Amino acid sequence: MTDHLSINRANWDSRVPQHLLGYDLDRFRADPSFLSGVVRFDRPRLGEISGRRGIHLQCHIGTDTVSLARLGARMTGLDLSPASLAAARSIAEELGHDIEYVESDVDRAVEALGAERFEFVYTGIGALCWVPNVRHWARTVAALLVPGGRLFLRDAHPMVYTLCDPRADGLLTVEFPYFETPGIVFEESQTYAGDGTPIASPRSISFNHGISELLNAVIDAGLDLVSFEEHDSVPWNPFGDFAEFDPATGEYRLRDRPARVPTSFTLRAVRPRTPRTGSPVDRWREWEC
Ligand SMILES: C[S@@+](CC[C@H](N)C(=O)[O-])C[C@H]1O[C@@H](n2cnc3c(N)ncnc32)[C@H](O)[C@@H]1O
Repeated sequence: MTDHLSINRANWDSRVPQHLLGYDLDRFRADPSFLSGVVRFDRPRLGEISGRRGIHLQCHIGTDTVSLARLGARMTGLDLSPASLAAARSIAEELGHDIEYVESDVDRAVEALGAERFEFVYTGIGALCWVPNVRHWARTVAALLVPGGRLFLRDAHPMVYTLCDPRADGLLTVEFPYFETPGIVFEESQTYAGDGTPIASPRSISFNHGISELLNAVIDAGLDLVSFEEHDSVPWNPFGDFAEFDPATGEYRLRDRPARVPTSFTLRAVRPRTPRTGSPVDRWREWEC
């Protein structure tokens, strides 16, 4: 296991006890139709998934996975963190959902699950930043999908990951790389959905991916881009006192001039039914031969 995997696995394992208290589980228990905020936000974009075989990559404790199952999909969840998966299994069982959970590095998902198994791949907020190479990730997604299968991705915008922590003067300053680099080491004693108690493994290694890097990776993996939207809100608060909460969506946006910076995005793509020869880049080059 390379450094980033063992470090991030320990980091995510150590967040689970607090996330079990901070992830709206009582609302899932009280209302069998309750969906996670992220799935609710995207419901109009998701389309009809009832009866479809889906995989949720980097599913964590499985609240989005359960939400997709509640929309009728037959779900598999994959994650690196055994503690997350133990929680996900127990939540699914308690709520009466038959979900398969698999422990694997997302980059090895095809080895873990097999190729062309899923009608859709779903991946949610805070996932891509743990993947070192977005081109490899996109090839994995394409390989998991059956021909005609869909990729649905909503994540934090790479601009958010470039920004400093909230400053007393309210300025947003760009501190961290926008483009893909060999990784950034963070030491953060608290977790975003926690109660402030220090976590046992505060170190993590994360990776940003610029929008063009992501789009080119998706296209080069042979997927057809269907839509790409940038949003001014995100379901956690990266801006401290400078953010306002929107109860209608359960998301946070900048209080002052939110149009300054995109904070999340939604991407939809589809694997073509008929295989094409080469990538669009190859087809571009063919013209010159
Ligand atoms: C912020 S959570 C995202 C999950 C979901 N959006 C949520 O909020 O519940 C990130 C998840 O990615 C997982 N993860 C990190 N690196 C991974 C990797 N290389 N392969 C698979 N999962 C990974 C972590 O264990 C964690 O559960």
